[in-house]
Amino acid sequence: MLMNAAVVRLFGKPPVYEAFDIPTPTTPDEMLVDVVAAGLHPRTRSSANGSHYSSTGKLPMIPGFDGIGRDPDRELRYFILADTHLGSMAEQALIDPRRSVVLPADTDVLTVAAAMNPAMSSWIALRKRIAFEPGQSVLILGATGNAGQMAVQIAKRLGAGHVIAAGRDPERLAALTALGADTTISLAGDPATTDRSLGDAAAKVDVVIDYLWGVATERTMPAVLTHRADKGHPLTWIEIGSMAGLQITLPSAWLRSARLQLVGSGQGSVSAEEIAGELPALAAEISTGAYTIDAVATPLSQVEPTWNAPVAPGQRIVFVP
Ligand SMILES: NC(=O)c1ccc[n+]([C@@H]2O[C@H](COP(=O)([O-])OP(=O)(O)OC[C@H]3O[C@@H](n4cnc5c(N)ncnc54)[C@H](OP(=O)(O)O)[C@@H]3O)[C@@H](O)[C@H]2O)c1
Repeated sequence: MLMNAAVVRLFGKPPVYEAFDIPTPTTPDEMLVDVVAAGLHPRTRSSANGSHYSSTGKLPMIPGFDGIGRDPDRELRYFILADTHLGSMAEQALIDPRRSVVLPADTDVLTVAAAMNPAMSSWIALRKRIAFEPGQSVLILGATGNAGQMAVQIAKRLGAGHVIAAGRDPERLAALTALGADTTISLAGDPATTDRSLGDAAAKVDVVIDYLWGVATERTMPAVLTHRADKGHPLTWIEIGSMAGLQITLPSAWLRSARLQLVGSGQGSVSAEEIAGELPALAAEISTGAYTIDAVATPLSQVEPTWNAPVAPGQRIVFVP
């Protein structure tokens, strides 16, 4: 039996919409769902070009590691897939119901499909990866992206005392104040001014949520460390994304000069069980409609021309089979 799917046959080439074998459940823990919506997240792109750390390297592959589907009882489920080459950008997908959550029938599927992944990054990091305490101060690097924007709101929702949002896009940065940012810092201006602003604002920061890494972190980390009001005060730096580069050079002195703890948060460093355990609360949170995301519904048949087409800041493509 065949279905239509987005299929990658060569890493580096956009997926092509074509017929593909419908996967068959082989264990009681597998369930076939009719996919309703699947977001095109940065990780989906890196998995599809073979560069994500969770990539199986297997070809042909169907991209998509999360989505919303209708189960055999016609209930809506948000699901996250295990590392697999049979992803969610298809008419049907094989899910593990233990890594899914049933959604109310009136769920806005486009919003939930677009928002769950970016929102989960900070939700999981602050609730499961570190011992975050209400009242603590949080700096978000890359706050102008979808995950960063969500992080501003989620940090506040989880009780952050002060949220500093740092990013490049001036309009998106300015809009973060209304979403809860107490301070905004442009990463686009004169580097010396940015470093001074970051240092001053982050002198007492407790937690950094870093979506950038690469050259951006190489610049911001020393700016923050050298301006610590109390070098012995703990600073937890959570690496979550790598929009500005996959690697950094980390001088040993940075680790000695302040009480810095560097951790990562994502699938692997947080267990599948812990992530699954957070899905109901996060899905309920997103369904309140309090989190803004610009979900752009796109027919899955348009996957090939859409894949590398430019996207306006803040937009998140959601493929609809
Ligand atoms: N580990 C996890 O659990 C997890 C979960 C979700 C996402 N992530 C990761 O988090 C990152 C962000 O995801 P997202 O959904 O927010 O993506 P997104 O909506 O595409 O936003 C990415 C933002 O990164 C900024 N950016 C890109 N290159 C930059 C650079 N060189 N310097 C400074 N800013 C730069 C851009 O902001 P400007 O418009 O201001 O330039 C862009 O809006 C990705 O790496 C993603 O894989 C990780």
